[in-house]
Amino acid sequence: MTRFQRLRGFQDIYGNDARGFAAVAAVARTVFGTFGFEEIATPVVEEKELFTRALGAETDVVQKEMYEFEDRSKIRVALRPEGTAGVVRAYLENNFDKTQGLAKFYYLGPMFRSERPQAGRLRQFHQIGVEQLGTDSPYADAETIHCLTTFLDAVGARGYEVKLNNLGTLEERRHFKEALKEYFEPKKNKLCDDCKHRLEKNVFRILDCKVESCRPVILKSPPIHGFLNQESKDHYKKVCDALDAAGVHYAQDAYMVRGLDYYTKTVFEISHPGLGSQDALAAGGRYDHLIESLGGSAAGAVGFAVGVERLLMCLAPEKATDAYHEDSYFIVTHGAAAFNEAFKIVSQLRKNGVLAEMDLSAKSLKSQMRFADKLKYQYVIVLGDNELQSGDCKLKDMKTGLEQPRRLDGIIAQALATQFK
Ligand code: HAM
Repeated sequence: MTRFQRLRGFQDIYGNDARGFAAVAAVARTVFGTFGFEEIATPVVEEKELFTRALGAETDVVQKEMYEFEDRSKIRVALRPEGTAGVVRAYLENNFDKTQGLAKFYYLGPMFRSERPQAGRLRQFHQIGVEQLGTDSPYADAETIHCLTTFLDAVGARGYEVKLNNLGTLEERRHFKEALKEYFEPKKNKLCDDCKHRLEKNVFRILDCKVESCRPVILKSPPIHGFLNQESKDHYKKVCDALDAAGVHYAQDAYMVRGLDYYTKTVFEISHPGLGSQDALAAGGRYDHLIESLGGSAAGAVGFAVGVERLLMCLAPEKATDAYHEDSYFIVTHGAAAFNEAFKIVSQLRKNGVLAEMDLSAKSLKSQMRFADKLKYQYVIVLGDNELQSGDCKLKDMKTGLEQPRRLDGIIAQALATQFK
């Protein structure tokens, strides 16, 4: 019979990875909670048009990477490629704009982009993100970035770099785009094929091109600063000052642009040298027109998303992969009566919060011992019909190899006491 395989770019998450996911999610919930964010979970499937309108029809994500299909009611839907669009839709649909104005949300979950899979680039990946909706304050930008670096520090990420840029307003960007077109057009032959295409469709994205031969041309292009008005410059200055006040280190990168069209003013990216070519660990920025373009009134917003798989790649590998579970118990049984008693004891221990296990298929003593060791249970109790009758049994500490004769009820009392540690 043919076996099924997972699709390219999709992963099973288990063992250390699953533990890593749970650990970073727990830290995220704590840190985001202290910054005043509340959890929101939006659907994985939305109308395709939501993403087209939010992210921009000409972006790579919308043009080439969305998993989209017609559902059974003939609605064109897409698996979400990112979290921001859904959160803004939910903010408006649930009237947060009318009832409270400012809303601070965080989310965790899978996102889908049909990109070419490679290390750190998946078709189903996970993001942890936050969005502050209904605020124009530059302090909200700084607070959001500070929330991100606090989370990264708390989770144990080291050596990351925060890059910051000011993309200005849509109006300022229009002038900037024209200037870029004028600059790049006569130098078209020096650009890679992708950039030639970008020149027609989305000239802005040329600035982000990583192809070696394009870099010298890009680095001589007019920087955006010359196109920004005083209000945009002041906003950015306040963001920088507030980041300094919060003690966040960052580097300004005048050529950093983002792959999604909704950004205005402040944008940022976190890179990490451990990630290779896909070095963006997290990214975000301000998006002052998205709420309006999805049907709300004009209101600013800012947020970020961290790629969880990339984050786990940057963290030091778990040291204790083969460590024993502290104060855990495995009962090896011999005979039907001992099996039944062990089942009762394991149930009682578990009910009281003690990690306990037994082999339900009751194989040979030797294979039960091997199983207990493989699962890394610290204490093994050997229970046969004799032990059951006398109440005396052996307790083996698998960590030290030490074996001791003990009373069964004494062991159970010791196990039950560990739950309070
Ligand atoms: P993004 O830069 O497209 O922004 O994605 C954010 C992060 O998701 C990236 O820095 C990366 O770590 C991770 N990521 C993206 N694509 C993949 C992939 N194919 N495989 C693995 N990881 C990936 C956004 O999605 C915006 N919604 C962020 C935001 C929130 N802006 C404002 N609010």
